[in-house]
Amino acid sequence: MNNKEIVAKAIFDVVKDDLSLEQVEQLLENPKSVDHGDVAFPAFSLAKVYRKAPQQIAADLAEKIDGQSFEKIEVVGPYLNFFMSKSMISEKILKEIMTQKSHYGDSTIGNHGKVPIDLSSPNIAKPISMGHLRSTVIGNSIGFILEKIGYEPIRINHLGDWGTQFGKLIVAYKKWGSEEAVKAHPITELLRLYVEFHEVAEKEPELNDEARAWFKRLEEDDAEALSLWQWFRDESMEEFNKIYTMLGVEFDSLNGEAFYNDKMEEITNMLEEKHLLKEDQGAEIVDLSAYDLNPALIRKSDGATLYITRDLAAALYRKRTYDFAKSIYVVGNEQSYHFKQLKAVLKEMGFDWSDDMYHVRFGLITQGGKKLSTRKGKIVLLEEVLNEAIDSANEQISEKNPDLENKEEVAKQVGVGAVIFHDLKNDRMNNFDFNLEEVVRFEGETGPYVQYTHARAMSLLAKAGYTETTNADFKLNDEASWEVIKLIQKYPETVMQAAEKYEPSVIAKHAIKLAQTFNKYYAQTKILTEDDQKDARLALVHAVAILLKEDLRLLGLKAPNKM
Ligand code: ARG
Repeated sequence: MNNKEIVAKAIFDVVKDDLSLEQVEQLLENPKSVDHGDVAFPAFSLAKVYRKAPQQIAADLAEKIDGQSFEKIEVVGPYLNFFMSKSMISEKILKEIMTQKSHYGDSTIGNHGKVPIDLSSPNIAKPISMGHLRSTVIGNSIGFILEKIGYEPIRINHLGDWGTQFGKLIVAYKKWGSEEAVKAHPITELLRLYVEFHEVAEKEPELNDEARAWFKRLEEDDAEALSLWQWFRDESMEEFNKIYTMLGVEFDSLNGEAFYNDKMEEITNMLEEKHLLKEDQGAEIVDLSAYDLNPALIRKSDGATLYITRDLAAALYRKRTYDFAKSIYVVGNEQSYHFKQLKAVLKEMGFDWSDDMYHVRFGLITQGGKKLSTRKGKIVLLEEVLNEAIDSANEQISEKNPDLENKEEVAKQVGVGAVIFHDLKNDRMNNFDFNLEEVVRFEGETGPYVQYTHARAMSLLAKAGYTETTNADFKLNDEASWEVIKLIQKYPETVMQAAEKYEPSVIAKHAIKLAQTFNKYYAQTKILTEDDQKDARLALVHAVAILLKEDLRLLGLKAPNKM
């Protein structure tokens, strides 16, 4: 029970005949200042029922309410201010968390429902962009958060491994490329070829025809085209995997766009049967005017299918394969229109489960206020960012803690953690400007700060020779610990909120707040003093360590014990 539920129950026991428990709970308020207690009840809502002045009602209630859960109940005008019994709550909360450990805050609400999460999904032969990084870390974290409330996430990397760009790439490779160069630096070289293609094609547009012809051969399973495609894909994947390993992200499926090549005909057949396909200048479209959307282009006049056609096939495949409770796409805001059309077409096809599909959007990462673009070859390379962050972590650790064992490993966890946390700490819809110094900063509201606080708590426990127990006297009643206890108490709600909004930043903000509040507590309190509250204080430190680690885990960060 949280504080509101405890207060609601106490009031309800007195007003049973006139109000339901839910009604009472809905009336409760969070006081603006701590001087007004933890929960407030406005008694004027009962004035009609009791035909008395609210002040009088408040006073009467205060008399009758069972006060055992409260330090005091104050009557201020028409308000009843409840001050929770710190020692009672702290005992309850600490006992709970010592029993459940990292499972504190878990829920079964998801009922094992499967949730495919479409995340990362970079394009073959191009570097993973900052946008793909966002998708990767946001999607990965949403997976952990949903898992915590009982869903079964399925992480799908919907690779961009098909499309006309492969025709261009083959042309460029055959004209200006070499096997050695691609093998030496696959992505850099493939990107160079891609950029060169566009530069040359501006002057020699007939290159585009050649590219189309090669893509056609690819679609028709031509052996040479296929083997080049496969090779580009393998080389690219190897590069991507380096980054995924660094980030600690694993996928359940790498079914990319090409996987759906043989699954699109069923879609176009269905559309035809349902008389949804219309001809438009040789191309085939689905009219979406009923949804206030432009028509969806399903097949081009040359017969080529499109991004959306593959997504239609993928959506149906996911429904059939996983019978999902919901299906999530973690993709940049700039693709909103695409996902609206995708859902609308499925709806037209009679698939009501399209209502369970969610486009989890996120804002742009800009540089100097400008969008980062691949076309021009101007791009921040993710691997460089991560390496830079790791170097910086290494330096700081060598300075502060030169004797630390497994220094390299910790530096990796901290450096990579800094990059991930930097991305997740703000609402996902916010745009942010990329600034390397900012990303590798370790003070303030950063991942390393949370990691450091966790390590600090762990080393304090080690120093105290702490052994965990679930049945010590966990009563704490001082103000500083109360601030920490309240944050712990709020954790289950916090997790639910993050899950409902698909918003990892809710967890990141909780982690920051908990770390700050704990550090303040640590500064004010002599935790190791031998008195009758020492066990309770150590349990509190342990609880904080458990939750910080769990917060970090939900965000996809490691929590080293020493750093
Ligand atoms: N490869 C695409 C891109 O980089 C993202 C794919 C997102 N997933 C999807 N099912 N459409 O823009």
